[in-house]
Amino acid sequence: MPPEASLDMRRVVAGTVEEITPERRKIIVPFRGRAGIGVFNVAGCYYALRNLCPHKLGPLCTGRVSGRVVADAPPSVYAGEPEIVRDGEIVRCPWHLWEFDITNGQCLVDPKMRVKTYPVAIEDGHVVVYADPADLPPQPGG
Ligand code: FES
Repeated sequence: MPPEASLDMRRVVAGTVEEITPERRKIIVPFRGRAGIGVFNVAGCYYALRNLCPHKLGPLCTGRVSGRVVADAPPSVYAGEPEIVRDGEIVRCPWHLWEFDITNGQCLVDPKMRVKTYPVAIEDGHVVVYADPADLPPQPGG
């Protein structure tokens, strides 16, 4: 169990490390209209975000993954290619294109906004998410 996980979190196996290879993602445990959790592999490190954009509840984790464009001037006066930094670490919500840092859930448009994140561990070759039970389907008999 990762140190940031608590005992009341539920262990969810997202897949094998061979399945969620670098630069891939997988959406797990969507149920009854709830959003599920997006599990991302960013250069060999795993991150899990709630698939629910805090802006207007769009399916954030299904959005385009890219980096950030860095430029000193607007495109109309900029000569040459803009620099792209942190490639593969930013997910863009498909609804209104707000960007979020996959590694910590921070919104890059509104610094007061953040998407919920979950601890992830690699256990016996499996990618395991420690999730808030409120974001998961009820357990049988529970
Ligand atoms: S719902 Fe995600 S940016 Fe608006």
